[in-house]
Order: sequence, then C-alpha cells, then structure tokens
Amino acid sequence: MVDLKRRGRTISLVPTMGYLHEGHLSLIRLAKQYADFVVVSIFVNPLQFGPTEDLDAYPRDLERDRELCGSEGVDAVFYPSVKEMFPPGRTVFVEEEVISRRLEGECRPGHFMGVLTVVAKLLNIIQPDSAVFGKKDVQQLALIAKMVADLNIPVEIVAGDTVREPDGLAMSSRNRYLSEDEREEALCLRRSLLEAERLFAGGERDATVINEAMKAVIEQVPGARTDYAAVIDPSDWSPCENASCGDIVAAAIRIGKTRLIDNIVLGD
Ligand code: PAF
Repeated sequence: MVDLKRRGRTISLVPTMGYLHEGHLSLIRLAKQYADFVVVSIFVNPLQFGPTEDLDAYPRDLERDRELCGSEGVDAVFYPSVKEMFPPGRTVFVEEEVISRRLEGECRPGHFMGVLTVVAKLLNIIQPDSAVFGKKDVQQLALIAKMVADLNIPVEIVAGDTVREPDGLAMSSRNRYLSEDEREEALCLRRSLLEAERLFAGGERDATVINEAMKAVIEQVPGARTDYAAVIDPSDWSPCENASCGDIVAAAIRIGKTRLIDNIVLGD
C-alpha cells in the first residue's frame, strides 16, 4: 500500500464483515469513483458483538465474497484472522463518549467501542485516502466521521446510500435470518419511517407524536418489537422535541431473534 501511495495512486477502503450483498457492491462502486485502487476488508469483528449476540451465527462465505469482489474489479481483499487483528494482551481501545451512548449504543453496550477500534486499526493498516461506509448504519457513520475528525486521522469518509429490496427493506446480511413470514413482517420497519416522513410532510413537528406513531406502526405486527423509534438531532444524537428538516428518524426492531435497523433524514 505504501508503495502504491509513493507512486501517487489513491486508495479507497470498503470495510465490511463479509457476506456481501448489493448494498456492499454499491459501496465498492462508489469507492472506485474516489480512488485508483480499491481494497475491501472482510472481518467479522468479535469486539463489536455483545456476549448474547450473533457472532457465531453471523453469516460467512469468503469464497463467494472474493468472487463478487473479483467481478466488481476490487484490487485487493484484506481478510485478516481474529488472531492477527487482536493478538492477546491488547489494552488500547477507541471510545467515544456522547454519540456512542445513544440509541444503538444504549441497546448494544460496547458495540461502538468495538466498531471504532477495528475501523481505526483497518485505517492504520491500509492507510487509504478514503473509506466508504453505508448510510444504513447512520450512527456508525457519524461516529467514524467523529473519530476521524477528533483524532486527526488523514482519511476522507465517504457515505453511500442505503440500497433497498424492491419492497423497501434495507439490504442487510442479517436479512437472511428471517423466515418467509418474518421477512414480510420486517416491512413494518420501513413503513414506520415512511409514516414519520408522511406526518412531517403534513406539518407535524411534535417529535413525541411522530415517535409514538412509528411505534404504533411497528407494533401492529404481532411478531415485532421496537427497540427504539425516534427523531434524532444529528449534531449530538439527542432525541428531538421538535422535528425539523435534516433531523434523522432512526428505528431498530426485533422480529423473532433478528434485529434490524433503518433510518431516513427528514425533508430529504
Ligand atoms: O458495518 C460493518 O459492517 C462493520 O461495523 C464495520 C464498519 C466493517 C466494522 O467492523
């Protein structure tokens, strides 16, 4: 990588946990617009999974991923082992103290410490000029941008749009856990966001009214549970009282054992 940079070539990194889908491929295509040389990292990061989460069950298919990378013209695939990334005896981690405590951070304590630590390591190992992350994980994206700014990491963070199935479900490696019925039920997540958008477009500004309406949409589905559904101020990720253009509407639901997240930006 250092050699490539010396020769004046630009590098873009697409960090992933593998089991690539169309959402990842769109990030790869975006990375190609930013750099001469695209690296995809594939690493199921144990540090970002809680003790009761799906680390072992998380889908993996390295061969298929490498083929997909090949057909997208990816220049290098980096797939380190857990031992290589986290040799025993590590004592330094990256912790953010405000945004990481909200929403996903509240539901998944330690998750963002794991994400930020591994992303900082990947950025240090690959030393890309840019790194591409999806807007579906919008809180993760905000935290990575904050880490890069606060720690003066010399990389441009690029955000890729969420890719959806034809019926609106955001693409996610976790969608494969859903049974046929659950797949249908999962659409309440997207419906709840569209309800927030509809209310906002109709002039509703009371965030409590919008949040409650989203929860009602989700909980119309007997198998669905709301982890959160809220209008968020993107400056510090605090819950809004009054919704305004540019605020983020984020929701996380559980369908059976599967946890799904999605978001929209108001007035987008
Ligand atoms: O979004 C993901 O797939 C992961 O959180 C990331 C950014 C690759 C870090 O492990």
